[in-house]
Amino acid sequence: MSRTLLSTVNPPHRLLMGPGPINADPRVLRAMSSPLIGQYDPVMTDYMNQTMALYRDVFRTQNEATLLVDGTSRAGIEAALVSLIEPGDRVLVPVFGRFGLLLCEIAERCQAEVIRRDIEWGQVFTPDAIEAMLRETRPKVLALVQGDTSTTMCQPLAEIGALCHQYGALLYTDATASLGGNAFEMDAWEVDIATAGLQKCLAGPSGSSPISISPRAVEVIRQRASIEAGLRGDADAAIAVNHIRSNYFDLGMILDYWGPSRLNHHTEATSMLYGAHECARLLVEEGIEAAVDRHQLHGDAMVQGLKGLGLSLFGDLDHKMNNVVGVYIPDGVPGEAVRQTLLNDYAIEIGTSFGPLHGKIWRIGTMGYNARKDTVLTTLAVLEQVLRQARARVVAGGGVGGANEVYAQGGRG
Ligand SMILES: Cc1ncc(COP(=O)(O)O)c(C=O)c1O
Repeated sequence: MSRTLLSTVNPPHRLLMGPGPINADPRVLRAMSSPLIGQYDPVMTDYMNQTMALYRDVFRTQNEATLLVDGTSRAGIEAALVSLIEPGDRVLVPVFGRFGLLLCEIAERCQAEVIRRDIEWGQVFTPDAIEAMLRETRPKVLALVQGDTSTTMCQPLAEIGALCHQYGALLYTDATASLGGNAFEMDAWEVDIATAGLQKCLAGPSGSSPISISPRAVEVIRQRASIEAGLRGDADAAIAVNHIRSNYFDLGMILDYWGPSRLNHHTEATSMLYGAHECARLLVEEGIEAAVDRHQLHGDAMVQGLKGLGLSLFGDLDHKMNNVVGVYIPDGVPGEAVRQTLLNDYAIEIGTSFGPLHGKIWRIGTMGYNARKDTVLTTLAVLEQVLRQARARVVAGGGVGGANEVYAQGGRG
């Protein structure tokens, strides 16, 4: 056996300033190393109930059905869509980046009739445009990303839930990259299902997907309810004909496991639950509004720092997510080589980009545990050095100077 196979996992320390994952808060990592307990230990079921209550605060909702789907954020998305969509259902997906395309792809795999509407990357949809689509297409579900990290845009959602309900649709939103760092109001905005992940503004590692489901959406899911053979009593109904086409992601079954009946489904990923619990506790302790303000402050500082260096930013900045910014790679600068130098010489990771933006922009994040003044200033100072080395024209001291102007004015972080 080779030495590499037998060596311990000992990764280098990196400062993760890309679009996520980011460095987890040490408190989250400590919680995750706590001893394992059984899935029906009253201590465990109490932690599950606490997790539900904490995430109600994070999603700003009264939804009883607020819990975790085990798996990365994409698991939450799949659970939401496969549990709502029956083959042939019409699903409208306004696409403003890569993750809208992911919603199309997952809805197609659920055998939906997917209606896709595109806008140029770097823009968002107006409520009027979405209303016109709803009027024209009358979908069962509108699936819409809130913060699409591929473009850094944040889709306004405040009016969309009410519009969906006016036209008889349910609203699903992917808040993976935005929750905790940008305003999100599950109940006030009438969102029916929202899903998230830990590895962005929630300051954890990837591997758990918080989800919240409105009573309206629970009713739709319950109509497709089934109880697994081996758990069914004689009096229980057999599997519904239109049952959910996934066992693992059957939200009806997952709700029965998290609810008072504690009907066995998967074995809850205990260490991830400890981590998810601590992520929510951190946010609730800080206050959700304060956390959003913190992301805005450090996001603004990064924006002003990049501008101060003389770089150009991507997209409609009025709709930029607080926690990530796209910056054009200056002409003649080898984008990948710069990223590699940042990583190898300074242990700082920034993001590349996908599809039409690949090779054109870098994406720089300020989120979760890394939404801090020291991380912003360090990244800007180092970026200046690396750009100089690549013979780019940058304003000397402009990065740190630009960010410090924001800190001098704001000071909330
Ligand atoms: C908006 C959005 N949705 C979904 C995902 C997929 O998340 P995961 O890799 O945790 O499955 C990401 C990851 O970057 C994302 O930014």
